[in-house]
Amino acid sequence: MDTLAGKRVILGVCGSIAAYKVAQLARDLTLAGARVDVIMTKAAEQFVGAATFQALTGRPVLTDMWTLPEDGVVGHVSLGMQADVVVIAPATANTIARLAAGLCDDLLTTTVLATRAPLLIAPAMNPAMYDHPATQANIATLRARGACVLEPEFGRMAEPLVGRGRLPEPADLLAEIRALLGRHNGPLRGRHVVVTAGGTREPIDPVRYLGNRSSGQMGYALAARARDLGATVTLISGPTALTPPRAVHVVAVETALDMRAAVQAACAQADILIMNAAVADFRPAQPSTEKIKKQADEGLTIQLVQNPDVVGELAHRNDLFKVGFAAETRDLLANARSKLQRKGLHLIVANDAVASIGQAEIALVVLDGEQAIELPRQSKETAAAMLLDLIVERFEQWLPGRQPSARENGDR
Ligand code: C5P
Repeated sequence: MDTLAGKRVILGVCGSIAAYKVAQLARDLTLAGARVDVIMTKAAEQFVGAATFQALTGRPVLTDMWTLPEDGVVGHVSLGMQADVVVIAPATANTIARLAAGLCDDLLTTTVLATRAPLLIAPAMNPAMYDHPATQANIATLRARGACVLEPEFGRMAEPLVGRGRLPEPADLLAEIRALLGRHNGPLRGRHVVVTAGGTREPIDPVRYLGNRSSGQMGYALAARARDLGATVTLISGPTALTPPRAVHVVAVETALDMRAAVQAACAQADILIMNAAVADFRPAQPSTEKIKKQADEGLTIQLVQNPDVVGELAHRNDLFKVGFAAETRDLLANARSKLQRKGLHLIVANDAVASIGQAEIALVVLDGEQAIELPRQSKETAAAMLLDLIVERFEQWLPGRQPSARENGDR
């Protein structure tokens, strides 16, 4: 189920103090089911031992062009030819310069030159070296040739200074690797998927709001999985306590009206909309501009008006594959079926509101008008992965009859 399972990853490690962080990456990749071959440059061996990577990957670590474990293919180019992805992390200014010049004077540069697999480069170095026009020109050259070169992060360096030059954390590198593999040959490559997540907040006054218990977990997991399957993802999120997924475009919104505007803008060019957000059905008619004060011992009546139905308003969009959610407290399937029709959806995902909202696990029933497919109670990450596989399958069945969008008709 992990998109990394069975993938052949070459992990090139260069001589930067950030090399210690990559031991964790090698472990994470291996646990995800990838076959990881670590190639270390001579300088990398000054920072970490080959035995560390060997123990974590369960495979020999390669440091030298002339002593490769032979498997019948032409020695020093065989690794690159077999790889699904080549990752260089940390990438030093020196290795970046050698790659930009097309040199192949060690095993790592030779492997890069001899591969057709996608290349991910994560620079990590002294901020002045990173900013240097020579390094920047080399990075531009590599990007122009199709390499994915990450921006180093800003923060405290090993030396006593603060700047842009830090290696992203292993979990972020893992997400970037998954995203790159997806863009290269995932089933959603070239597609734009919009996911909404979290709950909206409808202001009562400057400090209070009407909200709901949605945590955003399911929507965030769906966005990450759509990215791993190769999509360009826009995640439109109400306020949550979650860290936004890497390599996903995040649009932060607060109210249902904000969400409507963001969804309409993002869907102008989208293929799939997954409307997972718990959008408030009502909002206070007239939010107070001042904090509402208690009046003697009287209660408070707030008049509510209905919010627009964000996904329902897109019912006419026959060029967009739309997936909605129905969180219900009773008559789950009947309510979900009626929403499927009323909102003009292609699929609706029904779930028990009380048992799932704000919880780590979820059980789902996916309805398409005729069929009901049950997904058992499981973690939201696993549920998101299964659900997206189903969405991809139905999207591909729907595609041949897809109506051209206004954009394709030229009247945008
Ligand atoms: O009508 P109900 O809120 O139960 O419908 C749920 C589905 O409709 C979800 O996909 C939700 O994101 C979407 N929705 C919407 N706009 C609203 C309310 C819900 O798009 N105002």
